[in-house]
Amino acid sequence: MASTSTPKKIDEVRKALDILNSEGWTADQLMEGVTLLLNQHILKYNWVGFYMLEPGANPPMLVLGHFQGAMTPHTRIPLNQGICGAAASSGKTVVVDDVNNDPRYLACSLETKSEIVVPIFLNGKVAGELDIDSHFPAAFGAEDRELLEYCARIVGQRLERK
Ligand code: SME
Repeated sequence: MASTSTPKKIDEVRKALDILNSEGWTADQLMEGVTLLLNQHILKYNWVGFYMLEPGANPPMLVLGHFQGAMTPHTRIPLNQGICGAAASSGKTVVVDDVNNDPRYLACSLETKSEIVVPIFLNGKVAGELDIDSHFPAAFGAEDRELLEYCARIVGQRLERK
């Protein structure tokens, strides 16, 4: 398995995302569509899901939303835990090439080898994130990051239009 996705595949998924995004769906429907599209079309994206910040929670809490893949024990993640907490608290994409060598990692599946978490912004503030796990080490290259940041952007824009 190549460490990055082919430009052709990324291009196809990008076009499909633009079609989804033009459907007039709610943010919730769009998020579900994004998880299905990414999980079905890019085979190394073995678990694809959204975590959203719980409105009004103190301390802040990430709550599992739409996802594809095996059920995870981590349905609620505080911001000081996990790769998910790191991405949400820093507002930056976190890429982990080898989850077993990252002390922050909260295990979901023994098969997971690498992970990317991309924050979603609503009016300039982190509102949630898109989390992808792969069974392959170092699965997330620059093209993947760009694609997933695009997904996060369209979801953030849709949330702003609510
Ligand atoms: N691995 C994540 C937890 C969520 S599962 O991957 C679905 C983390 O370290 O925050």
